[in-house]
Amino acid sequence: MQNKNIIPFKIQSMDSLGQGVSKETDKITFIPKTLPGETGKAMVLAGKKGVQFAGLLELETKSPHRVEPLCRHFNICPSCHFLHTSYEEEIQFKKLNLDKLFHKILHPPIQVLPAMRRTEYRNRLQLHYDTKARILGMLDAKNQRIAPIPDCLIARSRVKEKVKDLYANESWIKLLNGGPERGHIEIYEMNEEVKISLNQPYAEGGFTQVFDEMNQELKKILSHWTKNFASEDVLDLFAGNGNLSAEANYSRRLCVDFYQKAVTDPFTSQDLYFPKALEVIRKKTKQIGLNPSTIILDPPRSGLKNLEEWLEAFAPQRVAYISCDPHTLVRDLTLVKNYKITELHLIDFFPSTFHFETMVFLERI
Ligand SMILES: C[S@@+](CC[C@H](N)C(=O)[O-])C[C@H]1O[C@@H](n2cnc3c(N)ncnc32)[C@H](O)[C@@H]1O
Repeated sequence: MQNKNIIPFKIQSMDSLGQGVSKETDKITFIPKTLPGETGKAMVLAGKKGVQFAGLLELETKSPHRVEPLCRHFNICPSCHFLHTSYEEEIQFKKLNLDKLFHKILHPPIQVLPAMRRTEYRNRLQLHYDTKARILGMLDAKNQRIAPIPDCLIARSRVKEKVKDLYANESWIKLLNGGPERGHIEIYEMNEEVKISLNQPYAEGGFTQVFDEMNQELKKILSHWTKNFASEDVLDLFAGNGNLSAEANYSRRLCVDFYQKAVTDPFTSQDLYFPKALEVIRKKTKQIGLNPSTIILDPPRSGLKNLEEWLEAFAPQRVAYISCDPHTLVRDLTLVKNYKITELHLIDFFPSTFHFETMVFLERI
């Protein structure tokens, strides 16, 4: 008897999550680890109205861009999406994705900054665990399954070695010392030392960018943009430890983040999604006499839905919006009036995965 969950596929394009998209059956099918032009068989794993999600079973036609993945875990790992193709093609997929998202917004051509390397870049890794199932690894957000990845190639070497240690003789279980049955372990490198934190939203010291060298590259572009108006005031929203506004020599800056951190300049701890956050920050800037002509914002994936209200309230001359989720970035920019995009950068902070950083510069018109 034929298994009706096994379906034929032909990949037409890639979606924004790095999955191949097939329209060979009555439902649109999304299949990770495939490439445009490829055909074969896939196993349907889940579905809902009009769409289904499948796993690759068998390849009949291979893309000429397909390569042997560098990582032995690639086929089961939910965290990397592009190691089965060349880095040039990975960058093309990311650019196409950004192009598509920006198609309704007037913008200059996208400037792409590829990463200097595709592996060994992450200065921190988050591994999820389930003590009952005695499993540690990468979490697949789609189905909450954990895939064991003892040898992660995108981690920097010290982090990678620590991960190997954790897997050796299941030493991670001893480390937990009781605690919740499911949770996460963060392994991070700080000042050339590898540390571990358990079930914390961020490692010690709050958020830090994962790819140090690409962070420096992004800041170079930002500094170049700010060089003519560095003597003015800046408001740095979702500032973390003030990373983005630290080097530009602004006259003054106010860093805002909900995570209390010691940065040298005025820092305000504020939940920026709190309905009255704008009012609170307005009051604070008035109190300290800060008149920001530049706003830098670098929110988490959820973006800043009421960006337009912030721009109306402060009327900054220019804005730099740095985003790790181009969908929410476009959502927020669509509502913005009185500004034009002067630069649009795709900066590959997360090679081998579908993620990337987008940086947009806006000027008041
Ligand atoms: C993508 S990180 C950017 C940090 C910083 N700009 C940098 O370059 O390192 C996002 C920041 O938003 C902060 N954050 C998340 N949710 C927040 C909220 N509701 N209110 C204020 N800050 C928040 C996090 O603490 C984190 O520092």
